[in-house]
Amino acid sequence: MDQLIIEGGRPLRGAVRISGSKNSALPILIATLLTDEPCRLGNVPTELRDIKTTIRLLEALGKKIAVRGASVTVTGSGSLKTQAPYDIVKQMRASVLVAGPLLARFGLVRVPIPGGCAIGLRPIDIHLKAFRDLGAREISDHGDVILSAAPQLRAGRVRFKFPSVGATEHVMMAAAVTPGRTIIENAAREPEIEDLQDFLNKLGAAVKGAGTARITVDGRRQLRGAAHSVIPDRIEAGTYLIACAAAGGRLELRGARARDLSAVIAALRKTGARIAETKNGLSVDMRGRPASVSIKTAPHPGFPTDLQAPWMALMAVASGASIVTESVFENRFMHAAELASMGASIGVAGGQAAIAGVAGLTGAPVMASDLRAGAALLIAGLAAKGKTTLQRVYHVDRGYERVEAKLRAAGARVRRVNPARRRK
Ligand code: UD1
Repeated sequence: MDQLIIEGGRPLRGAVRISGSKNSALPILIATLLTDEPCRLGNVPTELRDIKTTIRLLEALGKKIAVRGASVTVTGSGSLKTQAPYDIVKQMRASVLVAGPLLARFGLVRVPIPGGCAIGLRPIDIHLKAFRDLGAREISDHGDVILSAAPQLRAGRVRFKFPSVGATEHVMMAAAVTPGRTIIENAAREPEIEDLQDFLNKLGAAVKGAGTARITVDGRRQLRGAAHSVIPDRIEAGTYLIACAAAGGRLELRGARARDLSAVIAALRKTGARIAETKNGLSVDMRGRPASVSIKTAPHPGFPTDLQAPWMALMAVASGASIVTESVFENRFMHAAELASMGASIGVAGGQAAIAGVAGLTGAPVMASDLRAGAALLIAGLAAKGKTTLQRVYHVDRGYERVEAKLRAAGARVRRVNPARRRK
């Protein structure tokens, strides 16, 4: 398995090109199931493992896909399968989003229930309740859920108990091919939801309200094909901003959008980082040690849960104490123990971590337990003196394209090795 070797303690300097958003590209790729006509998607982070998995999933369902660099063309019509393969859903939770489009188009779908994952239970009850509210019947069978709607789903009103990102996207897609008006209340407001709305509208649906808590979808039985370019990845951009604040230096993030990162930028400014919008994106400039700043994660526009672990790595080297509160996922502090092995002082109780910043971390062998925990350890390794060996890099590869190449372009000493391969 690949490892990253990081020789830390060097400031970052240079420019990093931000890729297209993984969390936007996933539902948009899946939304191509809504039409039989060709779709051309640009700025897709095709090197990410999750995107490759999504492409395999669409192929397994009957789509034909051509990838060229960051552009993906999806064709193939008519006869789609209505059963999602277990081995793919098991690998990637977001695969469950194929259920809504297939149910809405064909009146029947069978998907495995995605299990728990490292960061908590992650149930899909909000998704399933919404489909029941739109007239679906639900049967559980050997770990699968079978949804049926005869003759098809009914447009209507759906109110979420929590603004789930996945459930919002799921219902938007299904409603786009369900004639009549569907209203989603307490909808998630993430930028990825707006991107999906833009794509669905290009397909010919009439969706409005994304970015607010109330989304209205006027569905059409038939949608057409469309071309669309995916928004930049705000989580990747936020990770590099935080990395620069932790390691010091000056970075330009080409393609990053300030408006998607307002809570993160506000918190970073309080640490002493200077952040400015540039012609090409965003720049961050950090001199000296970061000040400590407490954060609490929340649905957008709050501080994103996906940047909670990176933030903890930054606070580990801040001057003073801070509290990090996780309010979106119940078990997302696995990185705390690994950071402690590099010299961080962190105590975790319930959904909160108390961090006493230390003057410096020391490189150590550490292991990524999930995608964003991996990003946190990478940041800690960049800020630490000496050599850090990051194991289970495949987690990082799910969400960060060419991470070592991008960091090297910013002056970091990072290389990828595969000890097993070397021994052969
Ligand atoms: C998406 C993002 C993920 C991000 C998360 C929150 C993608 C592919 N992933 O995940 O990176 O961390 O939003 O910003 O876009 N919940 C339920 N029942 C449900 C659905 C969710 O209880 O039916 C709970 C979850 O367990 C979790 C919380 O709601 O505690 C947030 O989940 P949700 O917003 O649905 O996240 P995802 O869409 O899975």
